Amino acid sequence: MSNVVVSERIDSPKVAAQTPGQRILIIDDEAAIRDSLETLLTLEGFRVDLASDGFSGLDQLTRSTYDLLLLDLALPGESGIDLLPRIKSLVPELPVIMITAYGTVGNVVDAIRAGASNFVQKPWDNEKLLADIRVAIGKNLAEQEVVHLKRTLKQRVSFENIVGKSEPMLQLFDLVAQVAPSRSTVLIQGESGTGKELIAKAIHAHSPRRDKPFIPVNTGAVPSDLLESTLFGHERGAFTSAVAAKKGLFEVADGGTLFLDEIGTMRMDMQAKILRVLQDRRFMHVGGTQEIQVDVRIVAATNVNLEQAVKEGRFREDLFYRLNVISLELPPLRNRKEDIPLLANHYLKFYAEENGFPPPELATDALRLLMDYEWPGNVRELENAMERGVVLSNGPTLTADLLPAQLRGNTYSTALLEQRPDASLFDVMEDIERRIIADRLERCNWNQTEASEFFRVPLSTLNQKIKRLNISLKKRSRE
Ligand SMILES: Nc1ncnc2c1ncn2[C@@H]1O[C@H](COP(=O)(O)OP(=O)(O)OP(=O)(O)O)[C@@H](O)[C@H]1O
Ligand SMILES: [Mg+2]
Repeated sequence: MSNVVVSERIDSPKVAAQTPGQRILIIDDEAAIRDSLETLLTLEGFRVDLASDGFSGLDQLTRSTYDLLLLDLALPGESGIDLLPRIKSLVPELPVIMITAYGTVGNVVDAIRAGASNFVQKPWDNEKLLADIRVAIGKNLAEQEVVHLKRTLKQRVSFENIVGKSEPMLQLFDLVAQVAPSRSTVLIQGESGTGKELIAKAIHAHSPRRDKPFIPVNTGAVPSDLLESTLFGHERGAFTSAVAAKKGLFEVADGGTLFLDEIGTMRMDMQAKILRVLQDRRFMHVGGTQEIQVDVRIVAATNVNLEQAVKEGRFREDLFYRLNVISLELPPLRNRKEDIPLLANHYLKFYAEENGFPPPELATDALRLLMDYEWPGNVRELENAMERGVVLSNGPTLTADLLPAQLRGNTYSTALLEQRPDASLFDVMEDIERRIIADRLERCNWNQTEASEFFRVPLSTLNQKIKRLNISLKKRSRE
C-alpha cells in the first residue's frame, strides 16, 4: 500500500470523525486475509493488531484492550468456535465478529449462541463489513454507557441526617463521598445556615478518621490571643493565667479532623500562624520550645467570600490557597426550592417527636408561603419556623397564620436588597412588580384580559408592562 493513499484517506474528515483510533484484533490463520483486512481497517482509521492462531490471540487479549475482535471460525487446531467461550470469559464486553467460509451456516448459529455479535462471509463486501463493525462497536459503547449510568445513579450517596434531593445537593453529596476518604484540606463556603457544619461532620464521618475526634473551633468568636493558646496549647507560666500546661485543639484532634469554622473573620496575625501548621503539621505550645507533630485533617468553613476578602487585603492569599485545595459550595435554599417541602416535613416530624405528638401536616397555603419565601437565613431559618409551628399548632394541620410574620409580610423587598448589594430600590420595585404580574397571569391561566381586569388597568398597559419587565409568556405559547 502506498503512503500517498494512506494519507489521503486518513486526512478525510469522515474517517477521522467516525473512528477515532478504535482498536481491532484480527485472529486468522491465513496471511492474505489478515493483510487485506488490516489494509482495509487501517485506511478507515482503526488501529489493528494481528494474530495467526488462537493461542497468540488470547495472549494479545490479555495484554491490550480492544474495541472489537474479528475471529476466524475455522482456525486450525482450536477452532474459533471453541475459542469463543474462553474469549467471552476473559473479556465479556468485547464484540466479536466471526469470519466464515461460504456455506457454514450451522456453525454460524453456534457462534452467535456462544456470544458472537455477527458474522461475515468470505469473500466479504468491504462497505458492509465496515458498517457491521461500526454497529457492533457503537452498540457496545452505548451498552457500556448505560451500565455506567445505572451504576452512578445507584451509587448516588445520601447522608443520614442531611436532607436534600435537588440536583445541586446530590452533586454535593457525590463530591463529599469522593473527598471524604483523603486527608486533603477542604474549604466549605456558603451563606449562613446552609449546612456547612453538617457537611463538615459528614466528611469526618465518612473518612477513615471517623473513630477519632471531630473538633469544631469557631475561629471568629474566640479572641485572637486566646485562640492561639486554644489551638496550639501552652506551657505552664506562658502567660499570667497559665497555671498549668494545656494541650491545644490541634493535639486533641490528632488522628481526627479539626473544623475551623468562620475562618473568614480570623485575624491576620492568627492567619499567619495557622498557615505554618497547615504547611507542615508542626507547631509549638505558646511559651514552648519543642515542635509538636500532629496528623490532623483540616476542614474550614466561611460565609464570607474569601476571594473577595483576599482582594480587599483582609485575608492572606497564601492561606486561601492552602485551604482551597478542595472547595465545596453550599447552595442557598432559594436556589433549590424543591428541597423546601422535604426539609419542612423532616423538621415537623423531628420537633413533633421531640414534643411527643404526631407531626402536623402542612396546609396548602402554608406550603405556598414556604415556597415563595426567599429564606435569607436558609435551612436554619426554615428549621426554626418549623419548630415554632409545631409548638404553636394545636391540631393536625400547620396553617399559614402559624408561620413567622416575615413569610407573610413584605420583607421580600428587604431580603432582596440585602442579598443583592448592586440592586437599587427601583430594581427591587421592578422585581416585585414582575413577580406580582407573573403570579397573577399564572393564576388566570395566562389570560391577559382577566389579569388586566384583576389589576384594574387597561389591557394595553398590562401588555406594555409584560414587555418592559420581560415576563415570559411561555406557558401561553405552548398551549
Ligand atoms: N440539608 C440539610 N438537612 C437537614 N438539616 C440541615 C440541612 N442543612 C442545614 N441543616 C440544619 O440547619 C441548621 C444550620 O446548619 P449549619 O449549622 O450546618 O449551617 P452553617 O452553614 O454552618 O451556618 P452558619 O454559617 O450560620 O454557621 C442546623 O440545625 C442543621 O442541622
Ligand atoms: Mg456554621
